[in-house]
Amino acid sequence: MEFPWWDKKNVSLFDQILFLPPVLSNPVPIAFNQELYIEFCSGNGLWVVQKALDNPGNLWVAVEKKLERAKKIWNRAKRLGAQNLLVVCGSAENMVTAILPSPLVKEVFINFPDPWPKFRHAKHRLIQDSFVRALQNKMVSGGKITFVTDDISYLEQGLVVLKKTMKPLLPEPFYSKDPENYGSSFFEEMWRKKNKTIYYTAYANY
Ligand SMILES: C[S@@+](CC[C@H](N)C(=O)[O-])C[C@H]1O[C@@H](n2cnc3c(N)ncnc32)[C@H](O)[C@@H]1O
Repeated sequence: MEFPWWDKKNVSLFDQILFLPPVLSNPVPIAFNQELYIEFCSGNGLWVVQKALDNPGNLWVAVEKKLERAKKIWNRAKRLGAQNLLVVCGSAENMVTAILPSPLVKEVFINFPDPWPKFRHAKHRLIQDSFVRALQNKMVSGGKITFVTDDISYLEQGLVVLKKTMKPLLPEPFYSKDPENYGSSFFEEMWRKKNKTIYYTAYANY
């Protein structure tokens, strides 16, 4: 399968891949015809392609800003026959603010987003008040966000941000270290091999 060509200036939808230019001035909501299960920051797509294969009745979306990684997700989905997966090559922020119609998002997964570990860089983290509020506007009532990280400082920031407007689904301390059957990703496997602790947290939109 030939990976589609893209002019980098316009929003373009090809065979199972949506390209978003970095600068998107106008909202261009896409009319999806069923609820969405979205993974932001998908990397090479190991986790999300498997979820799409395991749950063929759901429409899955993998959002990854790096072209080379989006290509890998698309190739994997094509090779394994995951026809219910749309790959979005673009930023999570653009996807949420300009592309997603509301309220259509049933579940969101953010697995190992870039941790930006230095304090002065923490402002670049994806899980911020503005992002979560914009996302909630696109979620169905009872929709769920799952956030997974190995970075304790990002976990703490995530718990603070998410609890402002959402309901925790796990008892105090509001995270778990070993959920059952969550699935595995490239970073999850890498950190497990290095015996790093991994934190999972989940919140609901009510
Ligand atoms: C640490 S990797 C984790 C990849 C994958 N989730 C995993 O667990 O293996 C983070 C990924 O998020 C992507 N990313 C970072 N910021 C993003 C954003 N704002 N929107 C979309 N993707 C983003 C990066 O390009 C990278 O592929």
